[in-house]
Amino acid sequence: MLEVKNVTVKFDTAMVLDDANLKINKGELVGLVGPNGAGKTTLLRAIAGLIKWQKEVTRGTRNANVTFEGTVEFEGERIDKLSAHEIARRGLALCPERGRPFVEMTVKDNLLAGGFLCKSSDEIKNNLVKVYELFPRLKERENQVSGTLSGGERQMLCIGRALMHQPKLLLVDEPSSGLAPKLKEDLFKRIEDIFKELGVTILLAEQDISFAFSLSSRSYVMSRGHIISQGTAKELLADETIRKTYLGL
Ligand SMILES: Nc1ncnc2c1ncn2[C@@H]1O[C@H](COP(=O)(O)OP(=O)(O)O)[C@@H](O)[C@H]1O
Ligand SMILES: [Mg+2]
Repeated sequence: MLEVKNVTVKFDTAMVLDDANLKINKGELVGLVGPNGAGKTTLLRAIAGLIKWQKEVTRGTRNANVTFEGTVEFEGERIDKLSAHEIARRGLALCPERGRPFVEMTVKDNLLAGGFLCKSSDEIKNNLVKVYELFPRLKERENQVSGTLSGGERQMLCIGRALMHQPKLLLVDEPSSGLAPKLKEDLFKRIEDIFKELGVTILLAEQDISFAFSLSSRSYVMSRGHIISQGTAKELLADETIRKTYLGL
C-alpha cells in the first residue's frame, strides 16, 4: 500500500532523514519507534506531502533550504510530487503530534472541517456518527471550544478529524505523548478498534515502545535520521544491540 524509497530530508545542512526505506501492506498496523529527534515526525510529514509544502511556503525566506529526495508510492502510484491536499484526497491521513486542533473552533466544527473531502453532506453526517461512536467523549463535548480540551481529548479529536474522510491509511504521530497511563491505554484501545473494526491500515509513530510493540505486527526502529532495523517485536528484542542501544531496554 505504501512504499517509501530512499527518502532524504535536509533542513539547511542538517540531515534529518537519511535514505529512509519503508513498506506497509494493506491491513497492517506497523510501528515506528525511536527516541526524540530520531526523525519519526519528519518521515510522517514527508509521506503526507508536508515537507514539500514546507519547502514551498518557506521559499525565499530565512528557512528556505529544505531538501527532499527519494520517492513515496501509495497504492502503486507516486505521490511525492503531489500536494498534501491531493494525498489526503487519495485516502492518506496524518494525525499530527499533540493533536493540533483549530483551538478557537468547537469540537464539532473541527470534525466537520475534517470532512472537507467528503462528497456529500450525508457522508459527513455518517462519518460524524461513527466518530462519536468511537469517541463518545467527543459527542459529550461537541459544543466545547477545542482549545479547552484536555490532552487526551485533543488526541481523540485529532484522530476523529482524520477519520472524517475515511482514510485507507492513517499515520498517527505519538498519540500517547503527555498522557496519563489510563488515558494512554484507552486511546490505544481505540486505535486498535480503528484498525480491526474500521479496517484502516495504520503507521503508528511512538516513543512508548511497549505500546507500539503490543499493537503492531512489526515495527521500524529509527535513530538519528536512519531506519536502523525492522521486524516483529520478538525479533527486535532478540537483537541485543537494538534492544540496548536503540530501544533503551
Ligand atoms: N523545520 C526544521 N528545521 C530544522 N530542523 C528540524 C526541523 N524539523 C525537525 N528538525 C530536526 O530534525 C530532527 C528530527 O526531528 P523529528 O522528525 O521531529 O523527530 P522525532 O519525531 O523522532 O522526535 C530533530 O533533530 C529536529 O530538531
Ligand atoms: Mg516526533
